[in-house]
Parts: sequence; structure tokens; C-alpha cells
Amino acid sequence: MNLLIISCTPRIKEKSNTDKILDEFKKGYESYGNTTETLYLYKRNEWETIRKKFYENDNILFALPLYVECIPGIMAEFLESLKPKHKNNTKIGFLLQGGFGEASQLRCCESYLETLPSLLGCEYNGTLLKGNMFAVSFMDGKIRKKMVEPFYNMGKYYAQNNYFNKACKEKVKQKFVNFENFI
Ligand SMILES: Cc1cc2nc3c(=O)[nH]c(=O)nc-3n(C[C@H](O)[C@H](O)[C@H](O)COP(=O)(O)O)c2cc1C
Repeated sequence: MNLLIISCTPRIKEKSNTDKILDEFKKGYESYGNTTETLYLYKRNEWETIRKKFYENDNILFALPLYVECIPGIMAEFLESLKPKHKNNTKIGFLLQGGFGEASQLRCCESYLETLPSLLGCEYNGTLLKGNMFAVSFMDGKIRKKMVEPFYNMGKYYAQNNYFNKACKEKVKQKFVNFENFI
């Protein structure tokens, strides 16, 4: 299965925490023989291509940082430029990560993301939430690896289940000790 990933941070790849997280998530997702393609909203000159890919693909993940307790402005602007799909067979999941540790902060944005796929004529495939990601890009070596490595198993989880359900974190907790920080 192919997963189209749309990275929704305004930061360039080299400076983005979302990108470091996605590197690990993709390794896990691809370990089952799946493929991924990643497109970047900060590359505004590619929006026409990204829109085209959005309409063509039926398995899509939006990866985004929490900005002022909601989605980044660049993502809002991109979403407003999309037309709803007519064939209702597209599934959209979300990977949402924030800088601070408090889980409650991510919930408001999660509620918004739950409503989004139906507005685009698509189905909701769940949201993976993770806080405490502020320092990923500043850290080197072992510390960065430790911060992002849980996303490898989440990539595997998504490849197997194609859904981030509410019970997912509980299941994952039992199976992999590294997941206690997912909320
Ligand atoms: C403008 C701005 C607003 C932010 N607002 C929040 C916030 O409300 N809550 C939070 O936990 N982190 C917040 N953060 C931190 C980012 O979510 C966090 O650093 C994230 O990992 C950035 O990912 P990126 O480098 O891919 O953009 C904010 C960062 C910026 C730049």
C-alpha cells in the first residue's frame, strides 16, 4: 500500500521537527513492504502538484505541528484551496505533535481534525498525538534518536491497522515500552 504524506509545517525540512519524526515513522511504515511519498506545504510553488496528488491518492496522512493550540496557518490556507472529493473512498489520518508536554493541549486540535475529513468528502483514520517534541531538531545523536524512535513502531502500527484508534495507545503501551509518552 502507498501512503501519501503531506507535511504541514511552515519550517524547511532541515529545521523541522515534523520531518525528523516522519523519517522514523516512514521507516516503520515501509518495513512491511509499503511505500510512502512525502510532499511539503512549505514549498508553495508545489501546491498545484500537492493538490493533484491529494485528489489522486486514497490513503493520506497529514503530519503537523501544534501551533497556538491548533493547525499551522499554512495548513489552513492549503485546506481552503481543496475541493471535496466526490468518491468517498479516501482515508485521512493525522500525525499531530506539539512542543509542550501537557496532553490536554493537543485535544482541541484533535477535535478539529476529527471533523476535517468529512468536509473533504473523505473518511477519518484517526490521529496520533505526541507532546514534548520541542527540542527534536536541536538534539544530536542518541538523545534525538531516543525522542523519535517511538515513531518507528507507530509507523509499523499504522501499516498493520491503517487506523489510529483511541485504544491504540493502550495496546501499544502493552507491546512496546517506549510508548508511554504517547497520549
Ligand atoms: C508559532 C508557534 C506556535 C506554537 N504553539 C504551540 C502550542 O500551542 N503548543 C505546543 O505544545 N507547542 C507549540 N509550538 C511548538 C511546536 O509545536 C513544536 O516545536 C513542534 O515540534 C514544531 O514542529 P516543526 O519544527 O515541524 O514546525 C509552537 C511553535 C511555534 C513556532
